[in-house]
Amino acid sequence: MADMTVAYSPSHGLGEEQSIWFKLSSLLSQENPMQVLMALSEKYGGVIPINLKNHRIVILSEPAHAQRVLVDNADNYVKYFDGLRPIFGKSMITVDGALWQKIRAPQQPAFHPGMFEEYFPYLMSAIDSKMARWAKFAATGETIEMVEETWTLAAEMVCKALFDREMPFNPHFIFGQVKTYTDVMNHKSIRLKKMHGELTEITDDETAKAMDIWGEIPETVIGANIVDQREKTLLKMLEAAEADPNFPEFDRQQVIDEMKQYLWAGTETTALTLAWSLYLLSQHPEALERIRAEARAVCGDRDPQWQEVQQLSYTRMVIQETMRLFPPIWGLIRIAADDDVIEGHQIRKGDKAVICTYVMHHSPKYWEEPEKFDPERFAPERAKKRVKYSYLPFAAGKRACIGGALSQIENTLALVQLLRRFTPEYAGPVPAKIHATVTLCPKGGLPFRIRALS
Ligand code: HEM
Repeated sequence: MADMTVAYSPSHGLGEEQSIWFKLSSLLSQENPMQVLMALSEKYGGVIPINLKNHRIVILSEPAHAQRVLVDNADNYVKYFDGLRPIFGKSMITVDGALWQKIRAPQQPAFHPGMFEEYFPYLMSAIDSKMARWAKFAATGETIEMVEETWTLAAEMVCKALFDREMPFNPHFIFGQVKTYTDVMNHKSIRLKKMHGELTEITDDETAKAMDIWGEIPETVIGANIVDQREKTLLKMLEAAEADPNFPEFDRQQVIDEMKQYLWAGTETTALTLAWSLYLLSQHPEALERIRAEARAVCGDRDPQWQEVQQLSYTRMVIQETMRLFPPIWGLIRIAADDDVIEGHQIRKGDKAVICTYVMHHSPKYWEEPEKFDPERFAPERAKKRVKYSYLPFAAGKRACIGGALSQIENTLALVQLLRRFTPEYAGPVPAKIHATVTLCPKGGLPFRIRALS
């Protein structure tokens, strides 16, 4: 396989002209960024090669294509991470082949389902901090930004459960910095190219500063107050790999970069899912009441116990339906290491394949009334009929998300606990608009007011 590892240099930014994000931006309309991709795939089918200057991007939007790229011929499709290196460094999410396998192995045990019971009290403790904060918002009646709220909750969960550390940074500030970098469409070079005069333009200096601040976070977390001196934490697993003389590649920088990866990949996605689910529930009060009723039936008036989490099945279906309608990772990008053929179309070595998860999740071919919020479609009897690889919030194959199962527990607990004490009332325009950056964000945020239940 070709060695696709690219050393990070500041010139490899998301807003650089050679970045695929830069090129994709010309396809994404400001009004509804996913509409163009949906219209293209409806008109021209599931494999659409697009020549953009010296790059060929192939848009893929059929389950069989995802299976080919992510599973059956996965070794031929390597990760594309150029512009994201400032966020992820050389962490495992960015590398391929034998090295990826070697780096992932010592971390895998932290995501074994047998570990989740140990994480449970720390997830609950992070939700408790959030509830204390929301009690204040309920008293003042102020408007809050929900993605910021859920991002801080998810970050605290990662710090406490996986690293055994109190969250030592101001998540609202760090959140803002990371957004400065990942808000691809507002990078100055992209905006100028698209000739949109309004709104903000993020300059190169701002993105560089944002990434310097981000780069300091892992050391800050390591130096923070230890929660419980636990033996088996992800941080200890990373440090054991660093100390292993047979594993010279796993140096100090690897530990730092793996932490950065978790603090972003484990928070941004989980947070967006929770925020979008609160938005959907604000528009579907009957579903919100069903979550409350399920919680009462399973746990009565007390907090959920670990053994009860599996029984909160409707709540879990709401989260799954949210990730169908608003998949946080709306597109998976790979580079073809060699020629291939997909549905009779020639894929050439060097082509960038973009698997459009969003388009598959909204396709009437695979979903009845795809735009309808219907958590019951994830009920086991109906889910059985689903076409394989038509639902890919966590990707598929060997590079599938390591934290998918954990994120669903985090969000199930968060929904149940927050909704039993509060009604979050959405205070923005309906329908909320989307903004396709590296992740699928709400355009202009999701403003909410918090009402306490008596
Ligand atoms: C709703 C929540 C989440 C979503 C939607 C999500 C989605 C994804 C997706 C789509 C990928 C594959 C990306 C690609 O192939 O290009 C991925 C990879 C990954 N995710 Fe998640 N993720 C979530 C939560 C988490 C959590 C909670 C963690 C850890 C605490 C995590 C850690 C990772 C890591 C480390 C990888 C890279 C795995 C590898 O390359 O071996 N994610 N995630």
